[in-house]
Amino acid sequence: MGENLFPEKFIWGAATSSYQIEGAPDVDGKGESIWDRFTHTPGAIWNQETGDRACNHYHLYKEDVDLMSSLGLKAYRFSISWPRIFPQGGGRVNREGLDFYRRLVERLHSHGIKPVITLYHWDLPQALQEREGWLNLDTARYFEEYAASVFENLDQSVDMWITINEPWVIAFLGHAFGIHAPGINDFNSALLVAHHLLLAHGLAVKAFRESEREDESIGIALNLAPVQPMTNNSSDLEAAERSDSFMNRWFLDPIFKGSYPADMIDILSRSFNVPEISEEDAALFSQPLDFLGINNYTRILVEGSNDEDAFTGNPVNPPDAVYTEMGWEIYPRGLYELLIRIHREYGPLPLYITENGAAFADQLNEDGSVDDEGRISYLHHYLLEAQQAIAEGVPLKGYFVWSLMDNFEWAFGYSKRFGLIYVDFQSQKRYLKNSACWYREVIARNGLIE
Ligand code: FCB
Repeated sequence: MGENLFPEKFIWGAATSSYQIEGAPDVDGKGESIWDRFTHTPGAIWNQETGDRACNHYHLYKEDVDLMSSLGLKAYRFSISWPRIFPQGGGRVNREGLDFYRRLVERLHSHGIKPVITLYHWDLPQALQEREGWLNLDTARYFEEYAASVFENLDQSVDMWITINEPWVIAFLGHAFGIHAPGINDFNSALLVAHHLLLAHGLAVKAFRESEREDESIGIALNLAPVQPMTNNSSDLEAAERSDSFMNRWFLDPIFKGSYPADMIDILSRSFNVPEISEEDAALFSQPLDFLGINNYTRILVEGSNDEDAFTGNPVNPPDAVYTEMGWEIYPRGLYELLIRIHREYGPLPLYITENGAAFADQLNEDGSVDDEGRISYLHHYLLEAQQAIAEGVPLKGYFVWSLMDNFEWAFGYSKRFGLIYVDFQSQKRYLKNSACWYREVIARNGLIE
């Protein structure tokens, strides 16, 4: 291995999710999802935008796979829209919905691209939301049924399965802070949802182990970020500990140790109802996984707060830092720190970076080019850190850029472009940004360009 090469068989990929790219919200029997509903709620989304058309990937998937192939991607991470398979959440499989994913997987295979499938990237069937959604334990049971039925009916090989994408975001942005679907603002609800998501994850892993899918693997994708104190004074240090327990360990610990972090239970239970983890729950939550997917974009820097019951520190934006269009600090070293820490505390198990990338205000030039040097630099520096972690023994097996192409960025609508590929949402034309050409070269050499 040359100094700047990645390990042989390193998986170079790119990621998307169903609601963010597919469009076709009611085609071929698809049911309504909570994101279909939420985006049509006045005031919920920037500029009232919706995913109704998004990248129209449902109809343009062939062209999109050809683009992936032209970049030399080894793997493509996408999600299945649950209401395409079960328009009402459960019951009978909607064959036409499933067929879309069959065609997609087939096309990926024909180009030698490994499919990596997320079962839940936030588009819950609205029919289940009518019954309290993730607040209802039944939703975890419906998820088990949905997962089992995909394992049984998607009869092609799928290299990797991801049960749930970013349960923290689902629980807290969706149910405590109301900025994601279903738009609920209630912290107790968020804690219960978190618990049910862990159950859903566990039930899906169990269903997978009981299925006949051999030589395939399963894991989960968590949004994780290193948390650091602004100074070394005790108040900042303590604030960083708390924020880490809330932001990272609230899901890491149950999944790898079968318990919520004790310090956070202490603090939260002063004001909220913290669900108890029974022995049975613990066993379900912490079944062995084949890998952990890490979504990382930035770090969290905090200082102490005067409020004794505060469960996180106060976030600070360091003055000299550089930020992306999301307002997220560019902090490549954080990826190295995170990988080392996760490996040490929760390993050993194979790790994947299932999302990393940056939004910039990209401009399409007249000749169809996009000079996104900022994105190239971002990706380059994060990858350098990943490489160092590998050199120090972290079993990082692959890396997925968020995102393959510009898409619907949730509450921000189309105002944030994360893609390697520029999408003109009017004409639905795709253009390779300079970062896509750069990534193609990185993949071809299996290493960074000096
Ligand atoms: C993550 C989501 C993904 C995308 C990126 C920017 O939280 O998983 O869908 O929106 O952020």
